[in-house]
Amino acid sequence: MYSEKVMDHFNNPRNVGEIQDCSGVGEVGNPVCGDIMKIFIQVEDNIIKDIKFKTFGCGAAIATSSMVTEMAKGKTIEEALKITKQSVADKLDGLPPQKMHCSNLAADALHKAIEDYQNSQEKK
Ligand code: FES
Repeated sequence: MYSEKVMDHFNNPRNVGEIQDCSGVGEVGNPVCGDIMKIFIQVEDNIIKDIKFKTFGCGAAIATSSMVTEMAKGKTIEEALKITKQSVADKLDGLPPQKMHCSNLAADALHKAIEDYQNSQEKK
């Protein structure tokens, strides 16, 4: 049911953890399944230098959060904002249709973390 890439990211998730004093943090939850995902970003010169995640959720949620951190790392804010649930799922060689909402969570958490960073910049 799951691609090899999904299983790989589920078994060896990349960038797990949190960043102290991060530039932005995004948290989203899915009220249906109860899963929660949190993404921390460290931004320097408009580039996502570091990114970590914590996910309390299903295997697909863990795999998609791991993948989204790999996709966003080293990208500019503008490039990272273009990452969508579809591009995350495509990078994982697809997700079963009933699991697409899990990749939604990953893309949303990333976008929220960027929003949080942008809001803090505006206040400066
Ligand atoms: Fe909830 Fe996957 S089942 S995020």
